[in-house]
Amino acid sequence: MAMSATTPNSFLVKNPNHHHFLKPTTTHLTPFPINPSPKSLSITCAAATTTHIPTPTPTTPQSQDRVFNFAAGPATLPESVLKTAESELYNWRGSGMSVMEMSHRGKEFLSIIQKAESDLRTLLNIPSDYSVLFLQGGATTQFAAIPLNICKPDDPVDYIVTGSWGDKAYKEATKYCKPSVIWSGKPEKYTRIPSFDGLEQNLHARYLHICANETIHGVEFKNYPTPSNKDALLIADMSSNFCSKPVDVSKFGLIYAGAQKNVGPSGVTIVIVRKDLIGGAQGITPVMLDYKIHDENNSLYNTPPCYGIYMCGLVFEDLLAQGGLVEVEKRNLKKANLLYDAIDGSNGFYRCPVEKSVRSLMNVPFTLEKSELEAEFVKEASKERMVQLKGHRSVGGMRASIYNAMPLAGVEKLVAFMKEFQARHG
Ligand SMILES: Cc1ncc(COP(=O)(O)O)c(C=O)c1O
Repeated sequence: MAMSATTPNSFLVKNPNHHHFLKPTTTHLTPFPINPSPKSLSITCAAATTTHIPTPTPTTPQSQDRVFNFAAGPATLPESVLKTAESELYNWRGSGMSVMEMSHRGKEFLSIIQKAESDLRTLLNIPSDYSVLFLQGGATTQFAAIPLNICKPDDPVDYIVTGSWGDKAYKEATKYCKPSVIWSGKPEKYTRIPSFDGLEQNLHARYLHICANETIHGVEFKNYPTPSNKDALLIADMSSNFCSKPVDVSKFGLIYAGAQKNVGPSGVTIVIVRKDLIGGAQGITPVMLDYKIHDENNSLYNTPPCYGIYMCGLVFEDLLAQGGLVEVEKRNLKKANLLYDAIDGSNGFYRCPVEKSVRSLMNVPFTLEKSELEAEFVKEASKERMVQLKGHRSVGGMRASIYNAMPLAGVEKLVAFMKEFQARHG
């Protein structure tokens, strides 16, 4: 629903200096509903005199003053979420303070983190025997935290390496357990995913690790391998396709994701871990990497990234308002198909190196047949207010990251530009 021209929030969005407009009258303050047992959740965030802006439908056109940002992460956020955050920045729902100024142990912030967790559980249908942790340190920290928490130093574990991130995860694990790369796409420049039948898994592996979507190479698992040992766990780095489609969480022992692509700003890392895997960390595990500490303290052992968690919560609300992840996936498919069709229909002027069946819905790498024109492409696109299209420095070419928050209009504009650029240079 679009904001009405007369609501306090729309007024503030248009007149950001008129903060007094949102000043609460204490008589209107409503209590912040805190759940004493944050692991079983049914939460609403507190609202006071300031109306919480209802989420506009995703077809809301992009404001003229914003670019289409195709960055791989940190990445574009839903405009409606940014506007809600803007309207609540100075005085969060009548609390008299910004979320940035709140005690992480106060009732206001507790209501925020509990609602964020509750909404994420709804979105991904997370079973009750899984913990949701809001952590720091990025997905990179999880490359170490996972073996430290799940393995003994001599445990074998398997890694399928379909891109640079899987490779980094494997290399970090060599310090804390005995990992093997059971398949690597490196010789083929990370353009495909292996057939699961032919994988030679270690029968004693504690877990099988995959990167569900390789952000740099644009390779995405469309289904998931099953560890051959029935006690082994499937573990996935979902940083760049988290909440982009429904996922059967129960197939995984652990899922982790940095927030800064699909669900929020950088600084928040989400770990969804089966509860029975918590509590066996190696003795050398730093306290900040021990899942048990964070689980027991509901992600509040130390000061968490409060504002980032608040922003993730707004994104989760927005995704639910869009109809949940089934609907979100439909939109993502539509955007990705539009772009891949433009590439494949260009008679070789544009090329995507990734095998068709495993092309990412989130990160679309492509090159130009005339590679000398690539810099020009990026420059001209930027003048047209489509930014961050340069490919990762390790692979070159271009990359369009089209996460949940990239509007269809952004992809349509890019495709129109690609056709026009080809007409001039083809
Ligand atoms: C798939 C994937 N895994 C891990 C990382 C590392 O994440 P962070 O920078 O949050 O540590 C990234 C970052 O882009 C990524 O795309």
